[in-house]
Formats: sequence, C-alpha cells, structure tokens
Amino acid sequence: MKDLYNYSLLRHNTFGIAAECSRFIEVGTVGEACLLPSMLAGCDGPLLVLGGGSNLLLTGDFHGTVIHSAIKGMEHYVASDGSIMLRVGSGETWDYVVEVCVENGWHGAENLSLIPGEVGAVAVQNIGAYGAEASQIIHETEAVDIATGRRLTFAAADCGYGYRQSRFKKEWKGRYLITHVIFRLSPVFRPFLEYGNITEMLHSKSIDTPTPHQLRQAIIDIRRQKLPDVAVMGNAGSFFMNPVVERATFLHLKELYPDIPHYTLGDGREKIPAGWLIEQCGWKGRALGRAAVYDRQALVLVNLGGATGADIVALCQAIQHDVSRRFGIDIAPEVNIV
Ligand code: EPU
Repeated sequence: MKDLYNYSLLRHNTFGIAAECSRFIEVGTVGEACLLPSMLAGCDGPLLVLGGGSNLLLTGDFHGTVIHSAIKGMEHYVASDGSIMLRVGSGETWDYVVEVCVENGWHGAENLSLIPGEVGAVAVQNIGAYGAEASQIIHETEAVDIATGRRLTFAAADCGYGYRQSRFKKEWKGRYLITHVIFRLSPVFRPFLEYGNITEMLHSKSIDTPTPHQLRQAIIDIRRQKLPDVAVMGNAGSFFMNPVVERATFLHLKELYPDIPHYTLGDGREKIPAGWLIEQCGWKGRALGRAAVYDRQALVLVNLGGATGADIVALCQAIQHDVSRRFGIDIAPEVNIV
C-alpha cells in the first residue's frame, strides 16, 4: 500500500499534464481497499478514484486525495453453458487482458484491442470501439464502498450501461473503488467486422476470414493509424462524445450537408461523429497555444508539449463554440475534467 503526500500525477495522466495531488493512496489488495475508511477518517477534501489516467484532464493541482487500485491478477473458470468467466484485478492493464483472452481462445474482447487504461475504468467508462462495448462482456463488478469498507458485487444489468455511460460515472461517482471485474467470454469466435474500415484493413493484408489474432492485429493497426501514441504526444483518446440528435434535426442537417456521416440508433435517433463536425469547422490539425486538434482524427486533442490543463480547456471551449454556432449541436467532453 502507498500513502504519499504532495504527489506528482504526471505519470498518471496520458495528457502529460504536470499537476500534483495533496495525497495519493494506492491499494494492492481487497483487504487494503477495506482499510480506506479508517485511512480517510478526518480527511474532508475531495476524492478522486483514478485508473490509468487515460480519460482524464487535470486543470491544475488536485487539492484532495487520489485513490488508485494496483490490484492485479486474473483467474477463470468455465461456466455450465461453456462461457469463460474471467475475474480480473482492477489495476491490470486492459490491453494485456485482451491479449491473454486472444491467446487462450476466449472471445468477445478482440475489437476492444489497444484501448488504453486499466480494468476498473473499463467498467466505469463502458469503453467501446469498432462496434463492440465493454458492457457486452462484463458480467459483474466487485467494489469496496469507500465510506464504509463494505464489499459489494454489482450485476452488469444494474450498472446502467449506455454509450460511454454507467452509474459509476453518474450517481455512484467517487463512491466505490472497483476491485475486480468479471468478464463473460465465449469459446466460440464470432468476429464482428462490420464497423468502419475493419474489412478494408483485412483485405489490405489479403485476409478474408480472420483468426482472432489477425482481427486483434487489424484493430491495433487501425488505431495506430488514427490515434496518437501517448508516449509521443499526450492525449486522452476521443476528447468529445459523439452527439446523439433527434431524427428531424439530422434530416435538416442532411439537406445542408448531404455527406454527413451518421449511425442510426435503435430508438430512431442518430449519432453523428463529433470528429466530422469538428473537421467541418476547420479545426482539424489546428493549434491554440500548446494544445492542438490531432491532424488524423479531429476528435482527439493533443498536448504539443508543455500544455497546461487550461490550454486544453481553452481549445475545447473554442471548438464547442464553433460547432454549436455552425450546426446548433452541443458536443460534450468524454474525458473527466478535474
Ligand atoms: N470523421 C471525420 N473527421 C475526423 C474524424 C472522423 O470526418 O477527423 C468521420 C468520418 O466520417 C469517420 C467517422 O467520423 O468515418 C467515424 O470516425 P471513427 O471511425 O474514427 O470513429 P469516431 O466515431 O470518431 C469512435 C470512438 C472511438 C473509437 C472509434 C472506433 C467515441 C467518442 N469515440 O470515434 O473511441 O475508437 O469510434 O470505434 O465514441 C475513445 O473513446 O477514446 C476512442 C478513441
């Protein structure tokens, strides 16, 4: 267990913002997580539960306590219906979990390859990419109530999962430290190739029917083409969520912009790629101070080196303003701004 004061968060946020927190507690076991109430007794500052820091924008020093799980380990058993139940410590790196699944023939996570971050955040954020969402494979989430030390288990159906949403992000925010996530994986490989340019990428490698390894590699290749490497250029993946609009609003926009890309949702509403809206406003590749819009994917804001959180926020607001003025659509950040 770590309990440190005036601790630098530079290595804990992929935007690469230099900021400190007043106190940093890291737990390595469930038993240590259960000690949090006594450790925090008499400490009335704000709390921030942090995963890999890949979805976080720090706007300054955090005058409170950051709690991080370093709980590791994976164990599995086969359920009576043949599903593989994989229980993973919340501090494991998500992409390592995907790699282990692919190596072992446990299927369902392939399209979520190379998403940065740790397992606890997978269950909070309901990460998604290339037609897959974490909620499709999350079975249960185990957590400790930070105020009482009590251990709880949440069924996925009770976690309010939606597009990049969960109750952990809303009414349960800051209340629980997730200790483990139990995934339900399939022994049968049913590849989902319909999204975007997956088949195009496979065809460029002369692959028609991919193996799980080949699908994972194709996803990795696509992500590397479109998304900047945090080791080279600080960023937090998609900065904004894709806005969802009523069909009437979409049809009106389509008259003005016949090529507008969109995904029709089950409820008849339409999701519009924020990257397209931002690009149309001329922001792709443009910088404001040390913060910029990535030149290969306008949904991603990058730190050109030495940017402060305020620089990124200023860029975010300028983009929101232009998108709203031109399209009448409000785009909301996906990243957690602290
Ligand atoms: N587009 C543009 N210009 C751009 C970027 C996108 O015109 O600069 C348009 C293109 O028409 C493209 C469409 O938007 O076909 C969709 O782009 P893309 O497939 O790159 O996906 P996205 O909707 O921009 C979402 C996720 C990504 C995820 C990809 C692939 C959100 C907020 N983002 O982006 O997630 O990797 O789909 O599934 O839903 C992340 O959350 O950090 C992330 C990277």
